[in-house]
Amino acid sequence: MSDERRSDDHQVKVRQAVEEDDAVLLAIERVAWDASSGFPSYGETLQDSFFTRSGPDAHLVAEYDGVVVGYVRIQEKYPFPEGSGVLAINGIAVAPDARRLGVGNALMTATTEEARSRGARKISLHVHGVNAPARHLYERHGYVVEGVHTAEFIIEGAPVDALDMAKFL
Ligand SMILES: CC(C)(COP(=O)(O)OP(=O)(O)OC[C@H]1O[C@@H](n2cnc3c(N)ncnc32)[C@H](O)[C@@H]1OP(=O)(O)O)[C@@H](O)C(=O)NCCC(=O)NCCS
Repeated sequence: MSDERRSDDHQVKVRQAVEEDDAVLLAIERVAWDASSGFPSYGETLQDSFFTRSGPDAHLVAEYDGVVVGYVRIQEKYPFPEGSGVLAINGIAVAPDARRLGVGNALMTATTEEARSRGARKISLHVHGVNAPARHLYERHGYVVEGVHTAEFIIEGAPVDALDMAKFL
């Protein structure tokens, strides 16, 4: 798939990930998450390959002016037929120096298009209650809060809510 959007003189392109994206995605992963968006302990679990946990097929990548700056990981939520048609966004991140340029919007639009092309009926995700940029992004793309797990995590000494959000296609 390929989804191209122009803003001013810049171009954002979203495409399927390939093995060759591994190093740049690993570099993004090492700097993209902080205490408001993820778990500080996550950095210690990173392997030498971005694709260790799930391969290129599970990812779309965004290029900004030809440079890979972000990704979204899309997977089947359930491994059994009764849950078929529900996809999960199991990670979306944009390199810090490429934020607020429309890359997250492009990845979310491409996710909806990808899900529709796969015949999905729903997309789900989890987000920390304190993650205002991500919550704004998801709401803008039609996701609503389906559940709140109050004080689900303690991150750097503070309680953090975990939200379930989803959108029907
Ligand atoms: C969330 C994230 C993917 C957004 O990526 P991005 O490329 O900056 O997003 P965009 O530039 O396309 O902006 C998308 C929308 O969110 C808004 N937004 C982005 N960052 C924001 C911020 N810090 N505060 C408020 N709104 C913000 C934009 O204004 C835009 O809204 P609009 O289209 O209504 O104007 C990025 O901040 C990120 O990688 N964060 C760290 C990882 C993370 O939190 N992932 C989600 C985990 S659930």
